[in-house]
Parts: sequence; structure tokens; C-alpha cells
Amino acid sequence: MELIDGKKVSDEIKQEIAVKVEQIVAAGGRRPHLAAVLVGHDGGSETYVAHKVKACGQCGFESTLIRFEDDVTEEELLATVAKLNADPNIDGYIVQLPLPRHISEQRIIEAIDYRKDVDGFHPINVGRMSIGLPCFLSATPAGIIELLARYDIDTKGKRCVVLGRSNIVGKPVAMLMMQKHNPGDATVTVCHSATKDLKEIVREADIIIAALGSPGFVTADMVKPGAVIIDVGTTRVPDATRKSGFRLCGDVDFDNVAPMCSYITPVPGGVGPMTIVSLMRNTLAAADHSVYPL
Ligand code: GUN
Repeated sequence: MELIDGKKVSDEIKQEIAVKVEQIVAAGGRRPHLAAVLVGHDGGSETYVAHKVKACGQCGFESTLIRFEDDVTEEELLATVAKLNADPNIDGYIVQLPLPRHISEQRIIEAIDYRKDVDGFHPINVGRMSIGLPCFLSATPAGIIELLARYDIDTKGKRCVVLGRSNIVGKPVAMLMMQKHNPGDATVTVCHSATKDLKEIVREADIIIAALGSPGFVTADMVKPGAVIIDVGTTRVPDATRKSGFRLCGDVDFDNVAPMCSYITPVPGGVGPMTIVSLMRNTLAAADHSVYPL
């Protein structure tokens, strides 16, 4: 069994990005600039956004954090989005999800200029991804594909089972894994809460991508020996032995499943750091207009 070290790969990629940024600056260019909009004080969102801001520094980017309290109105957020769309100093930006229930996430996402949508959530980016056109790929699926590429994991003709059908991970990663591309070219099945005979389907998989948010869901009896496992789960589980009071738990029963696999991502240190680095890549691409030429 080989552990897929997302932390190590993400550090390498951040280093590669930082070198490119210094070349841009040396040639008289401006540092890429990412803005992040954070609403409220959800612990997970606070941590993710802090990691994104920190990664910007490591890549030589500028970053701006815009904070609102939970009671921000949809109109106020839409006005911020309009400002960021029009600001020539902002190359790309994200609105951290989830948003409070009184705000329509879809309305906010659709208001973002797709050329600055470095999360890849706008329907134009999602649509372009689904037909294989240049676009901003959403960060977690892009990070998974990059890990498979860097570990030279063969996906062509393999059976890939995706657990979960979210717009952020399940649907887009299924789309990327089925595309005529390497990594990709897999035969993909997406399982979700209404799937019958789920265990039997997962047991057939050469590659399992677990993105349910259900700690320890994938157990050893569901895994074919030699399978590749990508664990996207990051649920906070109370843990009195930790200073934070919680630990991050993946969707895979790691201790029992890992010995059976050919490759597996740990939680933390697997997919998570790759998500952040994919956002950095998109921001660089927004700044140099390589996805959407001027
Ligand atoms: N919430 C969970 N994942 C993400 C992400 O990748 N981007 C944003 N904006 N919000 C998220």
C-alpha cells in the first residue's frame, strides 16, 4: 500500500507557482490577487479560508479577505460581488460556502463573473468542464485528478465508483474521470443516498472516490483488494484528547481499509491540501488570462 501524500505534492506545486510568480514580477508584472468573501463564523469555513489566505502568501500572491456577519443581506453580498467583478486589481475571488439560509447560494454564484470564478462553480465553468473546454475546474475535483496524475495511477478503462453527487465534488469529479483524457477514461458509476446494492457496486471498483461526508462509511468489506481510494471526507468529530476539541474524519475506515489498497489518501493530508493548491492554480490562470484570453 502506498500513501498518497497530498501535503507533499501540494507543497511542490505551491513552490512551482511561486517561481512563476517571481518570474512575472521580475518581468514587470503584477502579483496575482485573490479575494475571499467569508460570511459568519462557521469553524470549518474559517479554517478553510485561513488556509487559502496563507497559501496565497506562500505562492507570492496578494490576498484580500472580506468578512460579513451572518445577518448580511443578499443585496449586500450581490453588491460586493459586483464590486469584485469590476475591480481590475482582483484577478479572481471566491465566496466561501455554505452561506446562511436566507441567501440564495445559486444567485450569488451566478452573479460572479465566470472569468474571475476561480472556484469553478459558475454554470459557464461547470458547462465548459462537462464538454472538455478550457475553464476554471472546481478545486477539489481538480486536486484529485492532479494527485492521480502525479502518482501515475492508471485510470484508463478502470471502474471508478464515486460516492456522493454534490455539485462541488461528486458530479464534477465523475465528469472528469469519464472524460477522454489521462487521468480519466474510466467507467464511472455515481452512488448516492437512493442507490440500491451500494456495497456490491463499490466492491467492483478499481478506484473509489468517497465524497459523502459520512465518517468511516467505506468499510473493508466494501473494498476490492488492490483498489485505489481517494477520501474526500473531512467531518469534524468531537475528540476531547485534542486541543481543538475535534479531529477530522474521512469517509473511509482508514485503519481497516488501508492495508487492502494499492493507494490511499489520508485524512488530513490527502485531498485537502490539493484543494487549496488547485485554487492557487486557478488564480494564477485568472491573472495570466490563460483560460479566458483578453
Ligand atoms: N465550501 C466547501 N468547499 C468549498 C470550496 O471549494 N469553495 C467554496 N467557495 N466554498 C466551499
